[in-house]
Amino acid sequence: MHSTLTIHPVPVRAMSLPKLWYQNNPVKTHFFNALSTLFPQGENFFIASIRNFENCAQSTSLKEQIRDFVTQEKNHAAIHKAYNRCLTKAGYDVAWMEDKLHKKISFGQKHVPPIALLAVTVATEHITAVLGEKVLQGDLVPEGIDPELRKIWIWHALEEVDHKAVAMDLFLAAGGTYSQLVRAMMYSVSGILWDSFTRMFHMLKRDGLLFKPKTWWQIFGLMFGQKGLVRLTALDILKFFAPGFHPARHDNYNLVVHGRRMLGAEASAGSF
Ligand SMILES: [Fe+2]
Ligand SMILES: [Fe+2]
Repeated sequence: MHSTLTIHPVPVRAMSLPKLWYQNNPVKTHFFNALSTLFPQGENFFIASIRNFENCAQSTSLKEQIRDFVTQEKNHAAIHKAYNRCLTKAGYDVAWMEDKLHKKISFGQKHVPPIALLAVTVATEHITAVLGEKVLQGDLVPEGIDPELRKIWIWHALEEVDHKAVAMDLFLAAGGTYSQLVRAMMYSVSGILWDSFTRMFHMLKRDGLLFKPKTWWQIFGLMFGQKGLVRLTALDILKFFAPGFHPARHDNYNLVVHGRRMLGAEASAGSF
């Protein structure tokens, strides 16, 4: 993790959500909208699972990185809460989605050992870093989509790439094992796919589009197309299963710098 700059992607109060902001493609629009509905509670879960073990961080550098990680994830949660309020205003049942996720997370926090929860955070952070890399490379949120929404996704993506190794460093310092990581990744991949797709289906149904053949062709494209999720991310996600895998060994910090440049100077520090 190289930097802690806090960037304003867009002012929270001024946020608006055009109906089909992703190149008029309802499936891609609602896939990203669905991810947004997962973030505020998801990021709070990451923070809580990290905080359970912060005493295991010995080095000053890791302690600082944990602090920065928490700041970045809190900021993401704040922006995505505002984003999700726009979805509620547009008529989607975000409260139902939040309730489902709340129950799932509470169940895990009650019944699953904290080290396994931290392993889930490590695995999910790898998935968000892989998605973030594809965003910053221009494959997942290309030019031509709504510019304000693009800013939000680029901002989130660059901070995910920036802090991609923090959870793993803490997990190793806490004595976590390879088999815990393997189980956590299997759980995280299936969980994210299930949660994002059920939410996407809900929004497509609300729009009266779920049962149209064109929609299913677009869903096929989202998964298996040239720039689909499988082609873009499967290999990088599978690398996680290699014994000894560590996200920091894949140096893509240039993309963080590139992302900041795309945001335009971004780099105006501030808080939400
Ligand atoms: Fe995040
Ligand atoms: Fe993250």
